[in-house]
Amino acid sequence: MKIVALTGAGISRESGIPTFRGRGGFWEGTRPEELATPRAFFRDPEKVWRWYCWRREIISRARPNRAHEILAKMEREHQLWIITQNVDGLHQRAGSRRVIELHGNIWRLKCTSCGRTWEDPGACGKIPPRCPRCGALARPDVVWFGESLPTQALRKSFELAEWAEVFLVVGTSGLVQPAAELPFIAKGFGARVMVVNPERTPHADIAEVFIQDKATSGMEKVYELLQNKGPS
Ligand code: OAD
Repeated sequence: MKIVALTGAGISRESGIPTFRGRGGFWEGTRPEELATPRAFFRDPEKVWRWYCWRREIISRARPNRAHEILAKMEREHQLWIITQNVDGLHQRAGSRRVIELHGNIWRLKCTSCGRTWEDPGACGKIPPRCPRCGALARPDVVWFGESLPTQALRKSFELAEWAEVFLVVGTSGLVQPAAELPFIAKGFGARVMVVNPERTPHADIAEVFIQDKATSGMEKVYELLQNKGPS
């Protein structure tokens, strides 16, 4: 079966990583423009880095949960790709190989001058970090508001939305474009859409199966359903 899973912050919630919106979310009490924009970064790089270092700390303590693991298992049993909006790397740590990171990765840095990218888990030792090649200011290699998504990742995601027979949507509010558009495209190309979320989202309205549940128990149900006979 050709399966694509679009994941958002909700899939990592049970690993102890807060989501963005809602109570206790990363954005609570903060306006995203104050932290996650190029303008905010150049105004106060240290402040923005402090926020990312705090998130790095939370993520480094987290482990993949059952939902990440089930997706990794499904990759071994089906033709499965993951498109994630998460920057935490937990899908890869769970063993998934076919992962498209639409919003970048928090462990990677990018030079604001020469554009070089590299991984540095120790980047928070001295903030703001600098590019080892040219000495310019380094930023987290994540997508900020007002920035375009990585071209290749975006192109591949649209291709996958057309390719999928089953399109799973796990733990995303469906409020951030262009990722939020992908399930609609998949549905238009004939995929059966399955949604796992404790809350009703815009994607639930087009889902053949809406599992109103947390990611871990919801993904167990998805796995069962697909084992038996597909979503219908
Ligand atoms: P949000 O914080 O917008 O939404 C999290 C979703 O997870 C909500 O729909 C919750 O109902 C759901 N949820 C909460 N707990 C859950 C659980 N245990 N299991 C499953 N679902 C659960 O996060 P995203 O939709 O991922 O972008 O946000 C999209 C983008 O907005 C992020 O990638 C980030 C943010 O601004 C950038 O930083 C560019």
